[in-house]
Amino acid sequence: MSEPSPRKLIIAIDGPAGAGKSTIASRLARKLGYINLESGAMYRALALKAIENDLSFDDETVLDRLAHNSRIQLEPTLGGNRVLLDSRDVTQRVRETDVSEAASRVSVHPKVREWMVARQRELGENGGIVMEGRDIGTKVFPDADIKVFLDADPVIREQRRVQQQHLRGASTESMAAELRERDRRDRTRANSPLQPAADAIILDSTSFSEEEVLGRVQAIVEEKLKSSSEARS
Ligand code: DC
Repeated sequence: MSEPSPRKLIIAIDGPAGAGKSTIASRLARKLGYINLESGAMYRALALKAIENDLSFDDETVLDRLAHNSRIQLEPTLGGNRVLLDSRDVTQRVRETDVSEAASRVSVHPKVREWMVARQRELGENGGIVMEGRDIGTKVFPDADIKVFLDADPVIREQRRVQQQHLRGASTESMAAELRERDRRDRTRANSPLQPAADAIILDSTSFSEEEVLGRVQAIVEEKLKSSSEARS
């Protein structure tokens, strides 16, 4: 009899900005033949729509209505997710600083989060995904097969983010300040604050190379696949 094909896992990678989640999630997904979904890009797309319509980031009712009237799609590609807002490609625009700040602000609202979490569950329900964000292991997929919380020293995260954003022309000071404020807001909001799930594996990437972090996460995945195939045989 032929070997049963391995079960398709749900892998949650959470952590603060600049910890290296996107790179690790997309490389891991590629290695496993899974899809990689950047949940933050959905908050960014909604925030962009709020900016374009000159809406207040503090008005939960208006933002909830906006979400319900929006079509936000993520299309995994080799270079990260392509982001479509109402069928328009906003992939580059949502990475700009004003959208980062707005995304962090719109994401504090429970009704906005509820809408996002429902969409994210639909996207991942069949497994075979690596989803990255802030609340994937705590809220979106509390039963995820693997939960990794990727952290790094704030100074290192700032340096990494500044390097990325320099390419887009942002200043070092404004980038570091934006990251610090976003961190504070993401960690202290009342609803689904950024924190590791009780059963998450915490990896601190401060003194590890990207290869080393990827190697560790891959080892965790292999262990899981092995134990679940043993349990099935
Ligand atoms: O991952 P990112 O930097 O693209 O996320 C942008 C903002 O979206 C982040 O500051 C907080 C919010 N976010 C969230 O609240 N929950 C998620 N699962 C992902 C992002």
